[in-house]
Amino acid sequence: MSAINITPLGFAAGAQVTGVDLRKPLSNEDHSRIHEAWLEHIVLVFPEQDLTPEQQIEFSRRFGVLDAHESQAPSTLHPDHREILVLTNKMVGGKKSGTYNSGRNWHTDLSYTSRPAKGAVLHCKEKPPVGGDTMWSNLYLALETLTPPIRGLIENLEALHDVSMIRGIEQRDPADVAEMKRRNPPVIHPVVRTHPETGRKSLLVNQRIRRFLGMSDEESQSLLAMLNAHATSPEFVYRHRWSLGDVVMWDNRCSCHVALGDFDQTKPRVMFRCSLEGEIETGRFADNAAGADRESMLQAVAAVS
Ligand code: OGA
Ligand code: MN
Repeated sequence: MSAINITPLGFAAGAQVTGVDLRKPLSNEDHSRIHEAWLEHIVLVFPEQDLTPEQQIEFSRRFGVLDAHESQAPSTLHPDHREILVLTNKMVGGKKSGTYNSGRNWHTDLSYTSRPAKGAVLHCKEKPPVGGDTMWSNLYLALETLTPPIRGLIENLEALHDVSMIRGIEQRDPADVAEMKRRNPPVIHPVVRTHPETGRKSLLVNQRIRRFLGMSDEESQSLLAMLNAHATSPEFVYRHRWSLGDVVMWDNRCSCHVALGDFDQTKPRVMFRCSLEGEIETGRFADNAAGADRESMLQAVAAVS
């Protein structure tokens, strides 16, 4: 009998999972209970865990293929485990870490690649005394609550996702930024996507979209602002206040999230992240787009690079 307890933490997303020690291999029964709860609640919180990198990797691997983080600057990976991305505001190798201000605008992990992440497992290693919360938004609800006319407008719409839109990227080390841009040319994804496991549709918008295809800049910017405001309405959001040792696992296929910078930046905040590789390639590179769209996209991209 599984000793797992699942308690909702929020209406739109979030549940706490207790009665499981993630240092040990998961039984098949525990694995399926967690997997089911993950699909239902999108964000799962496992409090008071204390995992070595190996244990975090083993646990994460049960839920998908681990990303080797080719999209990231090598200096941001754990020195012994490239499956772990280190989010830290401490100095690394005598310079500012490439992740010191990661996640500060609403995003879906790796939507700036052709294969957005399936999910991620984030382990809190060090935290400031107050602040530094993370918020997730349920993008199924965001889509389902749009009115029919807007839903019709976006049904077949595509968007250009651009790594340069990461908030605060210009403050990072120029070599890291150049590396990130080189590794991640702008990519096009549909605005409405289907979750490969639940079959439900969700709204893939976030603040790392530069524009929609086939629209003027004015149309794009107004529509994007409206959709982003809607997608991140408080009604759809779970906000997590971190405790040391928390492991939070989210489903990236139907959510977006943001890391809040509302904390004393002289206090360390360190998180270890394993990313699960996306199962499907939903994106295509902007360079392969056809005709007028290609022209307008290339102009938009040239303006920023
Ligand atoms: C991430 C991320 C949020 C945080 O790991 O993908 O956005 O609060 N992190 O550090
Ligand atoms: Mn993220």
